Amino acid sequence: MRLKGKSALITGSARGIGRAFAEAYVREGATVAIADIDLEAAQATAKAIGSAASAVRLDVTDQASIEAAVKAVEAKTGGLDVLINNAAIFDLAPIVEITRASYEKLFSVNVAGTLFMLQAAARSMIARGKGGRIINMASQAGRRGEPLVAVYCATKAAVISLTQSAGLDLIKHRINVNGIAPGVVDSDMWDQVDALFAKYENRPRGEKKRLVGEGVPYGRMGKPEDLAGMAVFLASDEAEYIVAQTYNVDGGQWMS
Ligand SMILES: NC(=O)c1ccc[n+]([C@@H]2O[C@H](COP(=O)([O-])OP(=O)(O)OC[C@H]3O[C@@H](n4cnc5c(N)ncnc54)[C@H](O)[C@@H]3O)[C@@H](O)[C@H]2O)c1
Repeated sequence: MRLKGKSALITGSARGIGRAFAEAYVREGATVAIADIDLEAAQATAKAIGSAASAVRLDVTDQASIEAAVKAVEAKTGGLDVLINNAAIFDLAPIVEITRASYEKLFSVNVAGTLFMLQAAARSMIARGKGGRIINMASQAGRRGEPLVAVYCATKAAVISLTQSAGLDLIKHRINVNGIAPGVVDSDMWDQVDALFAKYENRPRGEKKRLVGEGVPYGRMGKPEDLAGMAVFLASDEAEYIVAQTYNVDGGQWMS
């Protein structure tokens, strides 16, 4: 029960990694807002997790939606202790085929969504005066470029940078901002990644996924649950002195 009595909001937690975080947080004693653009899926996830979870509709690209979600959590639980900025989207294309629309959508969700969610949570935590924890989902894609993945990689590099700046700015309020950089994790997002690689690298569906799994030093792709221990730790009292860091949780794929 390392998060007993804590109130958490996890963006994009109707499925995948965010859902695994929500399940782990509830097991550790927290209440969790399953905040997702897909309200029906968020409601189904909250129902499956139980009474410590509740669904809230959230579009991280919409400022009014961000503020309403934070207010809803404040009203329900008395204040926000932990935000996980997990919602993100993926796309890939060769440099010469990248469209402005794809670029703007990815930066709007992955970067602006992270920044303005973080800002709204920080304002709420500062007003309450009890500090807090903010965890941003980066990626190994933020550590180095990839030929077909320029825009997504750039958004995740920006998340690592925002984690550093926000971490340094907010620690005076006892708000610790840190990040997690997963490697390859089997989720709906990776099914989309696999389909796009199949198209651009002329592969059968499923092949890219199999190959990346074989390339992980641990010996397989990550599962959403593999990330949960780090998300619990960073929100726990044990992580009080950790500030502005991004940790790789990737089965040994990347060292930094
Ligand atoms: N799957 C991987 O291999 C992998 C690797 C590295 C990093 N990550 C990161 O981990 C996080 C979770 O990834 P996942 O694989 O679980 O993704 P996913 O696509 O399975 O889930 C993303 C969730 O975000 C929600 N969402 C999308 N747009 C939103 C918006 N505008 N507002 C609110 N919610 C929105 C979706 O409805 C969905 O429930 C992301 O930040 C992703 O970039 C994933």
